[in-house]
Amino acid sequence: MRIRHLIRTTDLQLDEIEKIFRHADSLCVNTTPPNKTLQNKRFITIFFENSTRTLSSFEIAIKNLGGEVIRLDIAKSSTTKGESIADTAATLNAMQPHGIITRHNSAGASNFLAKFTSCPIINGGDGAHAHPTQALLDLYTIRQHFWQKQQSGITHDNMRRTTIPDTLDIIRNKRIAIVGDIKNSRVANSNIELLSRLGVDITLVSPPHFLYKTRFKTSYNLHEIIDQIDIIMALRTQTERHNNQIYGSLKDYANRFCITKELLGNRDIIVLHPGPVHRNIDIDDETLSDPRCKILQQVGNGVKIRMAVMEFLCA
Ligand code: CP
Repeated sequence: MRIRHLIRTTDLQLDEIEKIFRHADSLCVNTTPPNKTLQNKRFITIFFENSTRTLSSFEIAIKNLGGEVIRLDIAKSSTTKGESIADTAATLNAMQPHGIITRHNSAGASNFLAKFTSCPIINGGDGAHAHPTQALLDLYTIRQHFWQKQQSGITHDNMRRTTIPDTLDIIRNKRIAIVGDIKNSRVANSNIELLSRLGVDITLVSPPHFLYKTRFKTSYNLHEIIDQIDIIMALRTQTERHNNQIYGSLKDYANRFCITKELLGNRDIIVLHPGPVHRNIDIDDETLSDPRCKILQQVGNGVKIRMAVMEFLCA
C-alpha cells in the first residue's frame, strides 16, 4: 500500500477530509476503553520546536486508539551532538515505527524528513509553512458550530435532521477574517489553503508588515470589515520568527488588532485562535470567556481530528 504523508492540507482530497470529519464525529476525546485500531503499532513524536496542544493531542489520540508513542526528547537526543535531522530521521525509521509526527522551525522540514523514512510523516508544524491538522481541526470546529446553529433553527414538528450534510453545504457563503501576523503564520497558510478550496470568503486583516502580496481581500482595519464576517480567526504574533522588530510594541499592535468585546458587540460572530494566546494582545480577557470564543472546543476537536487522521493514514 502507498505510504501517505500529511505535510500540507492539499495532501488530502476534499472527499477524504469529509471522511475524516465524519469519522471524527463518531469519536470521543477520552475513550474508555480505548478503540484498538492502532493496537500493536508504535509512533514517534519528534518536536524540534515547543508545543503544548499539538504534541499532547497527537499523543492522546494515538493512545486513545490503542497505539504506543515514543517521544524523542530533543534536548537529550543526538541532534545536540551534531547529528543532522536527516540522519535522525533515518535512524528512527530503522526502528520501524508505524508513523512519525514532527515539528520543526524550518519550513519544508517535514517534507525533507519524509525522504528518509518509509512510514507516514505527519507534519505538526514546519516554520511558517504549514500546520495541516490545525487547519483541519479549525474547519471541523467551524463546521460543528454552523451545523449546531442550523439544527437549532429546525423547528417543524420538533424534528432534528440526524444526517449531517457535507461540510461544503454547512459552510456555504461563510466569511472569515484571519487577523494578525499572517506572514509568519503556518496556521494562516494552512487555513487559507484549505478554506479557499471550500469556497469560504477570506479577508486577511493585518498591519502591512505582517502581510504579503496576495490574491485574497485584505484590510488594515478590523472595524471596517466587522459587519461583513461570520468568523474571526485571530493569530498569535510570531515574535520568534521576527528577525528584526519592524513594528512598535505589541501594545501598539493590540490597540488596532486585538479582538475585544467592544469590537464584537452583540454580533453573531465566532472567534477562533490556534493557541497559545497572548491575552489582551490577540484577544481580550472578556472575549476569551465569551461563549462565542471557540478556543477550547478547538483543543478538544484537535484530539478527535488527530485520532481520525492517524486512523486514516496509519491503521
Ligand atoms: N496550535 C498549536 O500548534 O499550538 P501548540 O504550539 O501548543 O502545539
